[in-house]
Amino acid sequence: MGEPQRILVVDDEVGMREGCRRILAAEGFVVETAADGRAALEHFQAAGGFDVVISDLKMPRMGGMDLIEALHAIDEDALLLVITAYATIDTAVDATKRGAYGYIPKPFTPDELLLHVRNGLEKRALRLEARQLREERERRLLEVAFERSKSTTILNCMTDGVLVINRHGQIVLRNQALSRILPDGMPLPTPVETLGIPELSDLVLEVVRSEDALIASKELAIGPCTYMVNAAPVREPVGETLGAVAVLRDITALKKLEVAKSMFVSMVAHELKSPLATIESSLGLILSGAAGNDAERDRHLMNRALLRATTLRTLVGDLLNLTAIETGNFTLKRTRTDVCRVVREVVDGLADKAAEKGVSLALACDEPLAASEILADTNAIHSVITNLIDNAIKYTPKGGHVSVRVDDAGAYARVSVQDDGIGMTAAERDRVFDEFYRVKNEQTAAIPGTGLGLTLVRRLVEMHQGRIDVDSTPGRGSTFRVRLPTTAYAQGA
Ligand SMILES: Nc1ncnc2c1ncn2[C@@H]1O[C@H](COP(=O)(O)OP(=O)(O)OP(=O)(O)O)[C@@H](O)[C@H]1O
Ligand SMILES: [Mg+2]
Repeated sequence: MGEPQRILVVDDEVGMREGCRRILAAEGFVVETAADGRAALEHFQAAGGFDVVISDLKMPRMGGMDLIEALHAIDEDALLLVITAYATIDTAVDATKRGAYGYIPKPFTPDELLLHVRNGLEKRALRLEARQLREERERRLLEVAFERSKSTTILNCMTDGVLVINRHGQIVLRNQALSRILPDGMPLPTPVETLGIPELSDLVLEVVRSEDALIASKELAIGPCTYMVNAAPVREPVGETLGAVAVLRDITALKKLEVAKSMFVSMVAHELKSPLATIESSLGLILSGAAGNDAERDRHLMNRALLRATTLRTLVGDLLNLTAIETGNFTLKRTRTDVCRVVREVVDGLADKAAEKGVSLALACDEPLAASEILADTNAIHSVITNLIDNAIKYTPKGGHVSVRVDDAGAYARVSVQDDGIGMTAAERDRVFDEFYRVKNEQTAAIPGTGLGLTLVRRLVEMHQGRIDVDSTPGRGSTFRVRLPTTAYAQGA
């Protein structure tokens, strides 16, 4: 048996109180007493409740009627029996209406008292059990609802589209991502064919009908996007297929990357091919002696080969640098670098090229600059300036002018490369820094290039916490401006 049950007897007549106590205590109950409602209430609270409260109705300070309400306010399961004389039976009925469990008419025998108490205790036990069951059920329902909403939330948070099919080939569940990919709004279940994508329905139906747990994958173009669809069967432990789950992953970006990569490879191959062909034919001509023993002619051919070899080396260098930057393997070796000196070197190096093309190339270096010294990777800055001046020469027709200028711009040293060449439209200008982007028109058709130069330029300038911008007008020319933080402002200076 568990703990003895506890009973509180409330009566202002001491004889009654003690009489009840004796009868109940003899049956093994723990009995306490109180002389009025208020004392009973205090006792009830202090003791942390009783299994049964037996109370008289008429008492000083607080009567039985008020005690019922006060007790229920503390404990809605409190069980109260009122003791009443036959003359006041109506009042007792009233008390039960107000929440007392029952009444014991006076006088009563010990057996009658015990019978009422036992009935009351039984009733209370049942009531507590029922409450426990109800609470348990509510908790379960809550758990199930929570689990269900958790799964739904997870499904709907997925960026991949999810489609669940039953064994009859009907869609029974789809997540929000799927609703964005495929036509939505059909009430479920609906045959998978109603999606109107035969390749998708064929795939999932094949999985549902397969007897050997087939998992099928396929690339699918839906609208402008490409999806990788993976469909797997849902099987019972005994092996019967209940349906299938298909997951649709958007691989459009990957596809684009793949196309860009192949374009890159073919472009690089193309760029390598023509200088190599020139080198090959020049060397071939010299070796075959077809040009006779003309030293002057051989020299010219060798120069041509050398020029093309340099182009190749620059291209390969750009490629290596870009790859290194993309993979995070590029380390800037910063030293104090005089921008004017670097720019002058580049201009000197490209003077022949400009002259060959009939484009004038001028340099204005405001020396002494307030701060032309920057903390930079000299090779990188060399490459930046080379690309800009090389472009200016390339995209300026014969007779045009390229002017390079170095000046102060607040915390920056600014290099401007201005040409009066073919220029660009605003839309073209916005894309020049994109990888492989080249303006395609009659004027550019014959000009070789990979479209990588400016991509590299921007990456290098940004790595130096610098800025680059462009002004351009079609037919009028372009100005590229690079600003690099001077030593005093460069990070880490
Ligand atoms: N000064 C300029 N005037 C007009 N168009 C230019 C100028 N500079 C660049 N562009 C345009 O921007 C495109 C991208 O330039 P970028 O330097 O990245 O590549 P590229 O010169 O074509 O090839 P690469 O530099 O790799 O040999 C060029 O193809 C050209 O259309
Ligand atoms: Mg270029």
